[in-house]
Amino acid sequence: MTRRRTLFLGLAGGIAGASIAATAVLAQEGLNPVVKARHAQMTLFAFNLGTLGAMAQDKAEYDAEAATAAAGNIVKLSSLAAGPMWAPGTGVGDVEGTRALPAIWENMDDVITKAVALNEAAVAMEAAAGEGLDSLKAAFGPLGAACGECHKSYREPE
Ligand code: HEC
Repeated sequence: MTRRRTLFLGLAGGIAGASIAATAVLAQEGLNPVVKARHAQMTLFAFNLGTLGAMAQDKAEYDAEAATAAAGNIVKLSSLAAGPMWAPGTGVGDVEGTRALPAIWENMDDVITKAVALNEAAVAMEAAAGEGLDSLKAAFGPLGAACGECHKSYREPE
């Protein structure tokens, strides 16, 4: 429970302020800054997962140090206090340029569970990544699946 609390610190408190700030900046920049922020987090997830995926699929040479660093980045990124990045009123149908489904705000407990599952899979990858290519490959499936599990339920298909 401590981890859940730490990860999502600010989820309740940050919401109102984030929505108001979002509206103000929206007029200037076109894209809601809350949406921008979570896209940035997701982009960094994908970048680091890509490093690991290339090795797991034998498209890049195994590099224990680079793999451990990429996994560590996903651990850190999945440890951000994410509440303000999921402020209500920033989903599909509310603002432009998002694929975040309204179901997120109806099932926040489940969203948090899926986010914690990603953090745990990333911690497991960080431990495994430096132990050889087979070890990296074994940890890669669960890590990728943790991304996919959330997208399946909460991201609008393209
Ligand atoms: C807890 C849920 C959840 C988890 C876990 C999750 N995502 Fe996402 N992801 C989303 C949602 C929701 C969106 C749509 C966000 C939006 O458009 O506002 C998204 C969008 C994305 C995008 C598109 C970003 C853009 O600029 O449009 C990428 C890439 C992505 N995720 C990669 C990943 C990767 C890689 C992982 C795992 C390391 C991951 N995600 C884990 C929920 C999640």
